[in-house]
Amino acid sequence: MSYNESDRKFIWHPFTHQKHAEDNLFIEKAEGAWLFDDQGKKYLDAISSWWVNIHGHAHPKITEAISRQASRLEHIIFAGFTHKPAIELAENILPMLPGEFAKIFYSDNGSTSTEVALKMSVQYWWNRSGKDATKTRKKILAFRNSYHGDTFGAMSVSDRGVFTLAFHDLMFEVLFLDTPTDDNIEDSKNFITQHGHDIACFIYEPLVQGAGGMKIYQAGLLDQLLEKSKQYGIITIADEVMTGFGRTGKLFASEYMEQKPDIICLSKGLTGGSLPLSITACTEKIHEAFMQDDRMMTFFHGHSYTANPIACAAAVASLELLKEEQCMTSIQRISDSNRTFAKELEEQQLPLSNIRSLGTILAFEVDDSRHEYLNVTGHVIGRTAMEKGLYIRPLGNTVYIMPPYCISKDETENMYAGLVDSLYRAIGNW
Ligand SMILES: Cc1ncc(COP(=O)(O)O)c(C=O)c1O
Repeated sequence: MSYNESDRKFIWHPFTHQKHAEDNLFIEKAEGAWLFDDQGKKYLDAISSWWVNIHGHAHPKITEAISRQASRLEHIIFAGFTHKPAIELAENILPMLPGEFAKIFYSDNGSTSTEVALKMSVQYWWNRSGKDATKTRKKILAFRNSYHGDTFGAMSVSDRGVFTLAFHDLMFEVLFLDTPTDDNIEDSKNFITQHGHDIACFIYEPLVQGAGGMKIYQAGLLDQLLEKSKQYGIITIADEVMTGFGRTGKLFASEYMEQKPDIICLSKGLTGGSLPLSITACTEKIHEAFMQDDRMMTFFHGHSYTANPIACAAAVASLELLKEEQCMTSIQRISDSNRTFAKELEEQQLPLSNIRSLGTILAFEVDDSRHEYLNVTGHVIGRTAMEKGLYIRPLGNTVYIMPPYCISKDETENMYAGLVDSLYRAIGNW
């Protein structure tokens, strides 16, 4: 049986239609910004493999850290035991975080990091109420059009769209606000005033709603909502799973706001895209609510692979790379060239709108009245780009790029040229 036949026969891929999906591309190896298939064709990974791969594929420093750790201690239970990579990672990352963070809670992916944040916040209020269900806060505030993951809690605080349709009856109720604009900010602040004393926490993707279509909104307005939330003691949770580790031009998007979060969720770029790992970091105020004699006030949450030593060692290596001057210089270079490219895109004879960029992220919408379903638009553009050796994965009719920071100046220019060419070809063929 060929690899493709075996793949089709035995494997169920994520977000993939089971009847009509095309064959999955067989990737044999990856290096730097490039993916290589089994036919020897190479593709520029312009979206960092679902936004995780910040330093490029198979970075020697991360690979070496993984190999060293794997031969020493590959895994142990993290309740009752500890190890050097977990401690080193916590010590190294805490001073880098945007706020007064005191404790690191480890889990495995972006969804579990937000799930942990929600449970921690709800239990914070339950512990503080002395376990009195009538006095605790249970409501959660979130933005419409957000994405915080695929587990039930994460899904409940995310956009209620077609992807979650089958589960709507099973999700818990959430108070939703639109992301802030000059027009709605006063209403949103009034809403928080009205419900503030019942709200346990407010979860938000700072400045960019990633899976919701790379929608960018203003820091100053988010700051106002955070300030209002804090007036009511609402726990603020920054979901920086996508925006963390330099994506928006600063190390963390929360650095753009004066009001810092009480909890921050990190994953994706944490290990440089090498292994699954996530962090939910909280302030001492949150942790204090769990410093109780009553054992029922323990945070009863954990996963088999919590703080996997190999993943933690990879994260330590990735953070070291991130701290190197060269990395921040590359982020700056990509951010600057994205801004220039955004202006050039405006000049093209293409049906594009809302061309925007923030840090290493650039996005726009393709206006398409010819295709009944917008995801057909993205699919056609994505497939055309692949033929040219450029890997992008549009979100419906939103096309975006988010390359690894190792991408060279020439590769960046080729990526832009490849994208423009793919757009002309795809749109010309509609
Ligand atoms: C902001 C945000 N939060 C959470 C998640 C979920 O992360 P994961 O896919 O690792 O579960 C994502 C994934 O795209 C995300 O963008």
